[in-house]
Amino acid sequence: MSLRILSGLLIVTATQSVDAASIYAGEAKAAAVCSQCHGIRMPSADAPFPPLAGRDADYLKTALKQYRDKTRKSDIMNAIAGSLSDDDINNVAAYYGKLKP
Ligand code: HEC
Repeated sequence: MSLRILSGLLIVTATQSVDAASIYAGEAKAAAVCSQCHGIRMPSADAPFPPLAGRDADYLKTALKQYRDKTRKSDIMNAIAGSLSDDDINNVAAYYGKLKP
């Protein structure tokens, strides 16, 4: 019985650390690239760019993939998303999705 509880806890802990790692990677990417335009702590409160913080992570992923394959047009974002891997997109979407707007 106690063994089952313990292994349950281990699974939860392992899942959380994977999650945290990708958010951390997303934060690093956001700080290096996206925050120039989209802000990072106070995302876009006074910037002419759409805010990303607290937006639905699936929405952000879809938007970035559309920019990457150019089904959504934006000279700026097409260029930026063109260099993002699937992992980058997942991480950065997870990061912005968890930020408080
Ligand atoms: C050089 C400035 C610049 C940088 C750097 C930049 N963006 Fe953007 N981003 C824009 C602009 C301008 C738009 C609006 C484009 C449009 O009209 O579709 C935009 C739009 C977006 C959108 C769509 C938002 C919506 O409301 O639909 C997402 C998602 C996004 N950017 C994510 C990112 C991510 C993630 C990064 C970093 C990897 C990034 N951007 C870096 C300028 C930038």
